Amino acid sequence: MDVSGYKDNGIGSWNEVNLIYKAALKQVQTKMEVLNDEFQHVHRYNPIEHIKARIKTPESIVKKLKRGGYESTIENMVNYVNDIAGIRIICSFTSDIYRIAEMIREQKDLKILSVKDYITYPKASGYKSYHMLVSVPVYLSDRMVDAKVEIQIRTVAMDFWASLEHKMHYKFEGDAPEHIRNELVECAKMVADLDARMLAINEEISELGSEFD
Ligand code: GTP
Ligand code: MG
Repeated sequence: MDVSGYKDNGIGSWNEVNLIYKAALKQVQTKMEVLNDEFQHVHRYNPIEHIKARIKTPESIVKKLKRGGYESTIENMVNYVNDIAGIRIICSFTSDIYRIAEMIREQKDLKILSVKDYITYPKASGYKSYHMLVSVPVYLSDRMVDAKVEIQIRTVAMDFWASLEHKMHYKFEGDAPEHIRNELVECAKMVADLDARMLAINEEISELGSEFD
């Protein structure tokens, strides 16, 4: 990989990129686990079903830079690739998504750089998810650097849909047959309906359940 050295943002090599973003990812993952544990303790309920965390491979970082018309430099990676560190938080219910987003917003050491609410405003593909781009301070032996982490929050059903839609994109390299795309748009509607009905059932169970507690 052709990466020229760059010192101004405090990140000088691919090894450093990897180290710093891995550290940032670990910190955000731990924060999410703490929130989940505390929520369980207070409300006897886990808002988080599971968490997936990954560092983007150098190959796919270079591919993304190329797509955007940028050279493969460390500076460009840090500035233009927002999902070098990515964490996906999978919840049971849509209400959990906003609850978690709110808890993330409350954390003073996380800086919210941008938010995309693809739940209120789904993509034309049918894609639904709540995205937050945050930056977290990473303390090294002699300095501190801010590293971006992309957080995606979605329900189990949305995640199921997104995995299949991603597979389609990957297989057909963006040129998928129309009938498959249309079918996925239909399925996205069913996912939204399922999420709404499951949430309503859960709320009814919670209300009725309290009478039997
Ligand atoms: P990239 O999509 O990463 O180039 O950045 P962006 O600036 O367009 O951000 P956006 O928030 O739209 O997407 C970020 C990430 O969300 C992607 O890398 C995917 O993981 C996911 N994503 C966005 N749109 C879709 C979609 O239509 N289908 C699926 N399966 N995933 C999506
Ligand atoms: Mg995109």
